[in-house]
Amino acid sequence: MRLLALTAAVLLARAPAPEICGALNVTVSPGPVVDYLEGENATLLCHISQKRRKDSLLAVRWFFTRPDSQEALMIKITKLRVVQYYGNFSHSTYRQRLRLLEERPGALYRLSILTVRPADQGHYVCKVQEISKHRNKWTAWSNGSSEMEMRVISLKASEDSSFDKKKATWAFFEDLYVYAVLVCCVGILSVLLFTLTIIWQSVFSKRKSRARHYLVKCPQNSQRLLRKT
Ligand SMILES: *[C@@H]1O[C@H](CO)[C@@H](O)[C@H](O)[C@H]1NC(C)=O
Ligand SMILES: *[C@@H]1O[C@H](CO)[C@@H](O)[C@H](O)[C@H]1NC(C)=O
Ligand SMILES: *[C@@H]1O[C@H](CO)[C@@H](O)[C@H](O)[C@H]1NC(C)=O
Ligand SMILES: *[C@@H]1O[C@H](CO)[C@@H](O)[C@H](O)[C@H]1NC(C)=O
Repeated sequence: MRLLALTAAVLLARAPAPEICGALNVTVSPGPVVDYLEGENATLLCHISQKRRKDSLLAVRWFFTRPDSQEALMIKITKLRVVQYYGNFSHSTYRQRLRLLEERPGALYRLSILTVRPADQGHYVCKVQEISKHRNKWTAWSNGSSEMEMRVISLKASEDSSFDKKKATWAFFEDLYVYAVLVCCVGILSVLLFTLTIIWQSVFSKRKSRARHYLVKCPQNSQRLLRKT
């Protein structure tokens, strides 16, 4: 009985403290994988729905991971719409290329990465926390996250591949050229052969007919010739 009362008391004491539950529906787009050409501007959107409280605010953080490194916090937009940069991303070279904007309060946040570089390739995670003031303290009510992969196609690589394509087409036409020459040669040869046969045949038949002509026209001549010999 005592134990029950104790647990009840503990539960009651705990009850006012809000629980964090992953009820926020967070999705990123485009995804799950998006390709950008080096130098293009990338736009990553973080959509949020199913807030638990009307008066709550959102803290949105974007994290970045490369296959060979740990997840790093890049940028955060706080409840007061202040944008903060973290770690390497606070360097001016990154700062100028990274923008985080609240498109629709509590629903849509846009991360822009201007003139993407091959080094920007990796996984991007949007993590959202729903917070509100509870008894004069900022308290998290729910959270959620979603990730996507960004691939950056290096211009050099794409140039190489187009060069390869050109080479392949050229090789194909070279093959076609050799084939055409071969066909032409065979054609010319057969025409020559045909002409030769015709010439030979006509010459042969002329001789034959001439011989026949002699035999028919002057049988005496031949007889005379025979007698002389
Ligand atoms: C989460 O939100 C997306 C759009 O933002 C919607 O397509 C999806 O159905 C939602 N998921 C749930 C479980 O409500
Ligand atoms: C990228 O965005 C910047 C700033 O908004 C703009 O000046 C630039 O023209 C954009 N570049 C491309 C390739 O769209
Ligand atoms: C930050 O920069 C340092 C040195 O330039 C590098 O070693 C480290 O991997 C970078 N971290 C991230 C998360 O890019
Ligand atoms: C959400 O909150 C729970 C409890 O604090 C935590 O374990 C979890 O990692 C959080 N998830 C995100 C996406 O922040």
